[in-house]
Amino acid sequence: MKRGYSESPSASLGPPQSRFKYNPEGDAEFLEDESTKIFARKVAEHYSARTNQTLEEREASVIIHLKKLNNWIKSVLVQLYARRGDAVLDLACGKGGDLIKWDKARIGYYVGIDIAEGSIEDCRTRYNGDADHHQRRKKFSFPARLICGDCYEARLDHVLADDAPFDICSCQFALHYSWSTEARARRALANISALLRPGGILIGTMPDANVIVKKLREAQGLMFGNSVYGIRFDEEYAEKKFSASSPFGIKYLFHLEDAVDCPEWIVPFHVFKSLAEEYDLELVFVKNSHEFVHEYLKKPEFVDLMRRLGALGDGNQDQSTLSPDEWEVAYLYLSFVLRKRGQPDRTQAPNRRDRGQMQIGKEDIMYISTD
Ligand SMILES: C[S@@+](CC[C@H](N)C(=O)[O-])C[C@H]1O[C@@H](n2cnc3c(N)ncnc32)[C@H](O)[C@@H]1O
Repeated sequence: MKRGYSESPSASLGPPQSRFKYNPEGDAEFLEDESTKIFARKVAEHYSARTNQTLEEREASVIIHLKKLNNWIKSVLVQLYARRGDAVLDLACGKGGDLIKWDKARIGYYVGIDIAEGSIEDCRTRYNGDADHHQRRKKFSFPARLICGDCYEARLDHVLADDAPFDICSCQFALHYSWSTEARARRALANISALLRPGGILIGTMPDANVIVKKLREAQGLMFGNSVYGIRFDEEYAEKKFSASSPFGIKYLFHLEDAVDCPEWIVPFHVFKSLAEEYDLELVFVKNSHEFVHEYLKKPEFVDLMRRLGALGDGNQDQSTLSPDEWEVAYLYLSFVLRKRGQPDRTQAPNRRDRGQMQIGKEDIMYISTD
């Protein structure tokens, strides 16, 4: 396993530490630093403020091929692991960009949660098939519930006690927002583990810390990027060293043209893997996006999917493809799959699908506050 970012420990560069208190139930509960809450709010506000694009605006985006490639990667993960009738938990579901993928997999039940109110509202209208995205389509075939809240702070096992267990949990381009403190990273994994059935699957995508730290070390200063993205670390990382004993709270600012502009956190993957094991989640695979593309483009069904999604053109008249700068951004990410330990209990007949609805009103969205 590559450990590029942890080879040069530095005792002086510790990120903010988690502070714990114990509540009467005996749970380790986190007293959040004000700054942690402010950053979580910043992330929420950033995503909430992003308005839906029309199809024309989307096609005109400078990163349209990257968006299509990311959709292809997520579709491949869904097709590899989702089974007909599955109950799906979409953590940090955003505007519901993956609803169609789940529909194609013919899942049986969907719960989407996101911290950004605006995104959950967009997800609701998209699920209802409302014509606000210029993307009118037939209704989805599975019942759903939508929840607005902080997945990395709330006790989702309490909130979703009657909906669990889930067969699949998906956390796409979002798990790194939990890595601001150890407590949040643990809460994320504890939530996922508690809600997945034995043998259940976590699929996800997040930044590849090895690539980001390598690029930082190759850069002249603390900033690097290209025409479509920029990453900036604070002065506290001037030595470009990261303490192996403080793998949480390593913040950088990420700008991706037409997509992201907010604080993010480095997730050293070997730490993620061992922390996940503490929560009975075992690694199935991890692959950088470049490797992922090369590997799954060997399979004809996924070549066909790529053609339909158009990330690399349609193979005929449309010769368009990712620009070198978009391809470099793809390299900043990895995909992972984890499995919850244990054997599925096939005798248990879930009734949770009754909890979902086929048409979700504003008043049906559940808001969970952790203040
Ligand atoms: C890059 S977007 C990805 C959205 C969606 N998963 C997708 O792939 O289209 C990241 C999402 O993470 C959400 N997010 C960030 N921090 C979160 C938190 N603490 N709890 C829930 N959602 C969070 C953001 O609001 C945003 O919708």
